[in-house]
Amino acid sequence: MRKQFIAGNWKMNLTLEEAGNLSRKLRDGLKVSDTVDIGVFPSFVYLDKVSDIFSESNVFVGAQNMSIEKCGAFTGEVSGPMLKDVGCTHVLIGHSERRTIYQETNSVINSKLKAALLTDLSPILCVGERQEERDADKTDEVVESQLSEGLLNITSEQVNRLTIAYEPVWAIGTGKTATPEQANEVHTFIRNTMRDKYDDNTAQRLRIQYGGSVNAENAEQLLSQSEIDGALVGGASLDSSTFLDIVSIAASI
Ligand code: 13P
Repeated sequence: MRKQFIAGNWKMNLTLEEAGNLSRKLRDGLKVSDTVDIGVFPSFVYLDKVSDIFSESNVFVGAQNMSIEKCGAFTGEVSGPMLKDVGCTHVLIGHSERRTIYQETNSVINSKLKAALLTDLSPILCVGERQEERDADKTDEVVESQLSEGLLNITSEQVNRLTIAYEPVWAIGTGKTATPEQANEVHTFIRNTMRDKYDDNTAQRLRIQYGGSVNAENAEQLLSQSEIDGALVGGASLDSSTFLDIVSIAASI
């Protein structure tokens, strides 16, 4: 039985004050739940404050990206040890916005995953196809190469610390959601691919989140699919009551 994992990707949103208010509302509104893992992923500059607010709670705090390097002359970058220092336990790697806007390749993503694991951060590896790839029936092919190139030389012990988020690019920020069946189909493909690449036990333990226009209205249908183990929520995670509703839905499944 895999525990549901609901994560909020705040992207490049909120002011310092708003990030603090949202964190306090989430902390105070959350009923202690052993059945759901919860994480928030604020902008780098709010991590210290947000970690502080969640320090007595069981909410994970993570970053949206990280450097491959540990330290040195890499202007504008933020390293794994720095993230640990401000209370992060998790980090998003290979989000589609990093892939498409900042040209992160599978090979860069592979190096970032290794850097995260070496720093003892638990990564969420994001994968997913674009609309034109789905239209050309290439979803499996695209996701397969994101997994095989992204996870190159990563061991099954390391995969035990990993979460995968399936985020079809066409469903991100568009209000268009994959149907529960469409999502479950790709999640099944991901789990089978991981079984082939690693072993059955590793594939069964792996949590696969769905992301792409998840909200309080569609969460129940998506989360009740057999292969969907949680959600990576963008826009809807900026509203405390919506995010809390999604967490409650996950807890009820
Ligand atoms: P939306 O929920 O806003 O579509 O964003 C999804 C996402 O990119 C989460 O990482």
